[in-house]
Amino acid sequence: MRILVTGGAGYIGSHTCLELLNDGYEVVVIDNLSNSSIEAIKRVEKLTGKNIKFYENDILDTEALLKIFDIENIDAVIHFAGLKAVGESCMMPLQYFKVNVTGTINLLEVMEKYKVKNLVFSSSATVYGDPATVPIKEDFPLSATNPYGRTKLMIEDILRDLYRADKGWNIAILRYFNPIGAHESGEIGEDPNGIPNNLVPYIAKVAMGELKEINVFGDNYDTADGTGIRDFIHVVDLAIGHIKAIERLMKNSGLVTYNLGTGRGYSVLEIIQNYEKACNKKLPYVVVDRRPGDIAVSYADSSKAYEELGWKAVRGIDEMCRDSYNWQYKNPKGYSE
Ligand code: NAD
Ligand code: WQD
Repeated sequence: MRILVTGGAGYIGSHTCLELLNDGYEVVVIDNLSNSSIEAIKRVEKLTGKNIKFYENDILDTEALLKIFDIENIDAVIHFAGLKAVGESCMMPLQYFKVNVTGTINLLEVMEKYKVKNLVFSSSATVYGDPATVPIKEDFPLSATNPYGRTKLMIEDILRDLYRADKGWNIAILRYFNPIGAHESGEIGEDPNGIPNNLVPYIAKVAMGELKEINVFGDNYDTADGTGIRDFIHVVDLAIGHIKAIERLMKNSGLVTYNLGTGRGYSVLEIIQNYEKACNKKLPYVVVDRRPGDIAVSYADSSKAYEELGWKAVRGIDEMCRDSYNWQYKNPKGYSE
């Protein structure tokens, strides 16, 4: 089976390509490398001993998409390509709507034209807004608190409407919680541009001595230690979830939606403590103001994915921190060295 992976050079995409190749799938990638490096693709090829057919193109480029579907015999698409920084989305909303929403519509139109109607879509726990209770189940009310989240919600709505109109589609909407960590080889991992926005990539740079101290965004939340709680999930577990979703689509699943999380939350301070164990160093931190838009607690009920996909996250917080640090330690400048 041949899978088109949009955004396959990115953080989650590269880990998913690796699992796909190891499971015997053929992989075609389209990525404009706006937030990634071709080096990630090369390393996945080296780790697996298999080739990826790579197209350096934009999903907004309809001609390029048509060409790919014309040449390659695509059976299913895993759609990662998009912009994902919440803060940036507030500064440049039009760019986010264009790339994420218009880009997805472009892709769907070309898929429809070529009668490739099997799609796995990267959604996010952000579509639950500020949930009234935890753990979060798939049927909780949806809302968005920023333009990035709104793009995910709009795309989900588009996919639900598309499926209502044409039951020939098989669509898996996967709502990721907080992916962290890296492949255990330390060859591929997360390589954000500039100063990281997300907690664990930031901690990794403090552990390497590149940044001075961690800013803890608020310690007055209604949680045991006052800091925010999130459902951190190892990126390899997440990648494997995509294989399970593809398997399910191939059985004509229709439209399905799953939370991909571990079901357990860790606070910011707990993450710092676990990371200290992984890097065997004390990590300095200061408590600063809350970050606007942050919620206190988010963690998943992932039992639906277990029941229907036979998937559950098996890697714990120790492995997440160990693999994050291993990647950062081996690649202090990410892919750019
Ligand atoms: P990433 O930025 O590492 O990967 C996205 C990839 O898409 C990059 O390689 C980038 O170059 C590519 N891309 C961006 N715009 C493109 C375009 N117009 N045409 C072609 N390629 C383009 O991000 P990631 O963390 O791997 O996230 C993958 C997907 O998962 C995204 O859709 C993101 O919104 C979603 N997601 C991520 C998280 C997270 O915390 N990382 C959580 C929930 C959902
Ligand atoms: C985690 C916790 C912060 C940085 C974001 C997106 C979400 C999804 C995943 C794509 C929070 C605290 C953070 C720091 C801190 N992405 N923190 N100091 O905000 O849960 O989710 O990434 O879909 O949509 O919003 O992740 O890693 O930024 O924050 O104290 O320097 O760490 O306040 O409690 P978040 P995060």
